[in-house]
Amino acid sequence: MEISLSAISPYLIYRFKSEHELVEAVLELSEKFTKNRERITDYLQDPKLISAYTAFYLLTNVPKLSEVLKWLPPLWVHELKECDFVDLGAGPGTFSLAWKELGGKGTFYQVESSNLMREQGRKIWEGLYQNPIQQSSHWEWKTDKPKFLLFGHSANEMELSKIIHYVQDINPDHILFIEPGTRDFFQKMLSLRAHLLKENYHILFPCPNPTICPMERSEDWCHQFISLKQDHEVERISQMAKKDRKLLPLTVFAFSKTFKSQNPSERLVRVFPETKFSHEWLVCHGNKLEHYQLMKRDLSKEESKKLSSLLSGKALVTEVIKKLDHVTRVKLK
Ligand SMILES: C[S@@+](CC[C@H](N)C(=O)[O-])C[C@H]1O[C@@H](n2cnc3c(N)ncnc32)[C@H](O)[C@@H]1O
Repeated sequence: MEISLSAISPYLIYRFKSEHELVEAVLELSEKFTKNRERITDYLQDPKLISAYTAFYLLTNVPKLSEVLKWLPPLWVHELKECDFVDLGAGPGTFSLAWKELGGKGTFYQVESSNLMREQGRKIWEGLYQNPIQQSSHWEWKTDKPKFLLFGHSANEMELSKIIHYVQDINPDHILFIEPGTRDFFQKMLSLRAHLLKENYHILFPCPNPTICPMERSEDWCHQFISLKQDHEVERISQMAKKDRKLLPLTVFAFSKTFKSQNPSERLVRVFPETKFSHEWLVCHGNKLEHYQLMKRDLSKEESKKLSSLLSGKALVTEVIKKLDHVTRVKLK
């Protein structure tokens, strides 16, 4: 089923009288998210803003999951589909809907502290799928099935201790974080990464290996970008609200207790401006940062064009040609 504005509109808890009213509400919401972080949870009291979240952010976030899964080991994704799915800080059920559409087969659990968000999530799920959803403000279920826990833009709203508490309580086999691509969240993620590695989780993304993150003492931070094609109704709202939802920064981390994989040893972490002669990237290579330079003269026009569209997050396989003072000259293998 297509998760589109027309499909979910009948199930919004607030009926917008016009497109203009929806755009105004999206603008108000976006200001709350970016300008006033200490009052970030205010929108959770207002049915209009909850529905604006649903009509705009749910719809623009849903396509993220399938893009993120492309970075992860296919066999792991296959295994995840058999697990029970815990959508933590589910909001209106963004990632429950995305996971269901991508073939998640287990039981779906939504943990969401806001009553209004739960009401919105229930209305959409039951409207679209005509069956009830397990929902609560906290983790209250007992299940022996393997669990896949997903934090979608929610861990950034929680204290570190709360996130750790949820992980202990739920005891998932697999965890995926899809969070904002901000430096603040990355700092929190570093602590979580250290905690989860200590708890015997393997890191599957983004790090080549579980040693200390080279960004730990840097001003920079590890995050990724995805490029999304939004559905035309949402694209229209995005344009009216002047919000670009096509190129999105995000922080993705994936962990598993049971699935082990040989991670790619090189991952693109920053794309520097391309020069006339070369592609220039910052790459995490075996958990060391290196400035890679790839000369265009070794590429066809088409290959070079393809490389121009690479975004942070992509795994690479290269061969070193020469180590210069500040750059490592490479070619693709
Ligand atoms: C920005 S929304 C994200 C919603 C959805 N996951 C998405 O990606 O579109 C964050 C949600 O996390 C919920 N949340 C924040 N702290 C929470 C907590 N301690 N327990 C459960 N939910 C929480 C908020 O109520 C809010 O609905």
